[in-house]
Amino acid sequence: VNPPMIAPSILSADFAHLADEIDAIGGHGMVGGADWVHVDVMDAHFVPNLTLGLPVVQSILKTTDIPIDCHLMIDDPGRWAPPYAEAGAYNVTFHAEATDDPVPVAKDIRAAGAKAGLSIKPNTPLDPYLEILPAFDTLLVMSVEPGFGGQSFMPQVLDKVTRMRSLVDSGELQILIEIDGGINADTIEQAAEAGVDCFVAGSAVYSAADPADAVRNLRAQVTS
Ligand code: DX5
Ligand code: ZN
Repeated sequence: VNPPMIAPSILSADFAHLADEIDAIGGHGMVGGADWVHVDVMDAHFVPNLTLGLPVVQSILKTTDIPIDCHLMIDDPGRWAPPYAEAGAYNVTFHAEATDDPVPVAKDIRAAGAKAGLSIKPNTPLDPYLEILPAFDTLLVMSVEPGFGGQSFMPQVLDKVTRMRSLVDSGELQILIEIDGGINADTIEQAAEAGVDCFVAGSAVYSAADPADAVRNLRAQVTS
């Protein structure tokens, strides 16, 4: 799949009907549906919220062919992240703030057959991590404080996106730039202008009357 990509977050879906909710954004060969399904794993330690874990992700993997993008907002990713890759997630992202040593975690994720992603919170600077980014396939820039859907977009994080875009465009780094938090019809264009490749959207997709339409509309806004 080539950018721009739309990754609806099921955090805003009905957890009692996940298979239907995932079908609604791209099931049955739907044209223009979700590129990735973004699954937010929270442990009530790294963030003040608890969502779902490996057994639910394993069930989701059985119910859809859309690549699964796991966003782990958890402590101790070295212990907990690789099993998501072993289970068959396409991309496994963990937080830079959750470990002192991200590179071995990325290696384990890749060794288990998934893409490895590093996520940084809105106030986490990019610079200290630039030299380890070759170990990663995805950089997930948070544009809200992680923990909850439906928060307001923080445009100040776009400076980090702009910086990454120039490093990627100049060939210094090869990495997918993903943004997560507050992406909707009003904010997606500024994120695209800064250079985002993959847009996570939770409430903007699942609060829509037709989630698939919402995905198509968001993509249309960033496709030139
Ligand atoms: C927040 C999660 C997001 C969340 C985004 O911590 O990482 O993926 O679902 O929701 P919206 O798009 O509503 O900001
Ligand atoms: Zn997320």
